[in-house]
Amino acid sequence: MTNNYFDLIDQTFYFPQDGFDIENGYLLFNGIPLIHLIRKYGTPLRISYLPKIRSQVKRARNMFARAMNTSGYSGKYYFCYCTKSNHFRYVLEEVLELGADLEISSSYDIDLIRSLYKKKKLNKDITIVCNGFKPENYLSKIADLINDGFHNVIPVCDNFHEVDYYEKNVKGEVQLGIRIATEEEPNFEFYTSRLGIRHSQIVQFYQEKIASNPRFKLKMLHFFVDKGIKDSLYYWGELKKAIRLYCELKPQAPDLTAINIGGGMPIRNSLGFEFDYKYMVKEIVKMIQDACEEAGIPEPDIYTEFGKYTVGESGATIFSVIAQKQQNDSEMWYMIDNSLMTTLPDTWGIGERFILLPINKWNNDYRRVNIGGLTCDNSDYYNSEVHESQVYLPTISPNDEEPLYLGFFHTGAYQDAISGYGGIKHCLIPSPQLILIDKDEQGNLVDWVHSEHQTPESMLKLLGY
Ligand SMILES: Cc1ncc(COP(=O)(O)O)c(C=O)c1O
Repeated sequence: MTNNYFDLIDQTFYFPQDGFDIENGYLLFNGIPLIHLIRKYGTPLRISYLPKIRSQVKRARNMFARAMNTSGYSGKYYFCYCTKSNHFRYVLEEVLELGADLEISSSYDIDLIRSLYKKKKLNKDITIVCNGFKPENYLSKIADLINDGFHNVIPVCDNFHEVDYYEKNVKGEVQLGIRIATEEEPNFEFYTSRLGIRHSQIVQFYQEKIASNPRFKLKMLHFFVDKGIKDSLYYWGELKKAIRLYCELKPQAPDLTAINIGGGMPIRNSLGFEFDYKYMVKEIVKMIQDACEEAGIPEPDIYTEFGKYTVGESGATIFSVIAQKQQNDSEMWYMIDNSLMTTLPDTWGIGERFILLPINKWNNDYRRVNIGGLTCDNSDYYNSEVHESQVYLPTISPNDEEPLYLGFFHTGAYQDAISGYGGIKHCLIPSPQLILIDKDEQGNLVDWVHSEHQTPESMLKLLGY
């Protein structure tokens, strides 16, 4: 029996698989020879493969279109991109080019929308679903957008008082949404999400605050389970409750035409990941359809706000192993040239796992290791995968000419936002440079620098030096 890294992966998973292959001993990611990028730009490196963003938007639309067509569903599907998952302009421009609508969460998102409007990347017909608890600066920018003629802005009410601001400050009609505060999973630290209005108070809220005001139109019921879309009793139970509430509200709320099921569509976080996307979408559509049929009401349009699904799989983050340290008989550390804690903060904050693969040395033996980051923090490490609580990587020797390069894949969502890309981070570990990759008209790969390695000067400036 052989003992090299390739055999380990090949025997544990089906390999090669969608998006991952080996060419001349080096890893390809979506057909990109990563070793060329490493030799050209160095590490640490954050890359973003734009065609994947486009294909994910199309894939989501296809799945809903198919599920709706086969069941004869009469409502429409609207794909909104959840901006908080990745705010970079190149992402927004990709999704807007495909006609996506947007879901936003803060006042600063509206500055971003104004900037895209100025550049003619969107127009006033776009649907903008405004979520979140809204301080005055957010409320006032929402009101300004509506007053300026963005006629498909939908503030989703998070509490009873939000509408008072719109009543005073919006000149014409306001299309509103209501967010249902979902119950958390039974093993969570609290019972009900702080986001949204309690399920039991929504009908009262509608009657007291919306139905009584002729300028208010309730258009959307919003529901989002933070733990994501899963084939679990918990998910189906929460969805069923939301649909029942829609059926109860609809006869009293003639303008209600949309149910928004939020984000939470999962992405591949392991080579062994299995999720039947088509089945889930079909079941969601069917559950809404059956409930509406039983209640004798028209089927609503379905909105989604997929963030991670849209942009997660387009990203990868590549590090070099700069040293190995044997700290006791069994614990070997591979030290990388950046930080896991600051560059991939979800690995530390919520124990998120990503697909981890070496770029080179697939023919070396493998061994169990801990990966250590450069900050002095005890928590700056990575040593387990989704399928097992350990990490295996190729062996290395201090005499190797080429270092071992490690890729964390599908890191395109949330990591830059939560780490504060380009900001001040723990132990002043910088953000990696960001490289974008696309295909030209002939289908050839093209790459360019979006942001250089963060410089000491930029950090010192932020720190007031
Ligand atoms: C209201 C709302 N919609 C959509 C999303 C996007 O979720 P995901 O990135 O899992 O698709 C979030 C994420 O927190 C959210 O809070």
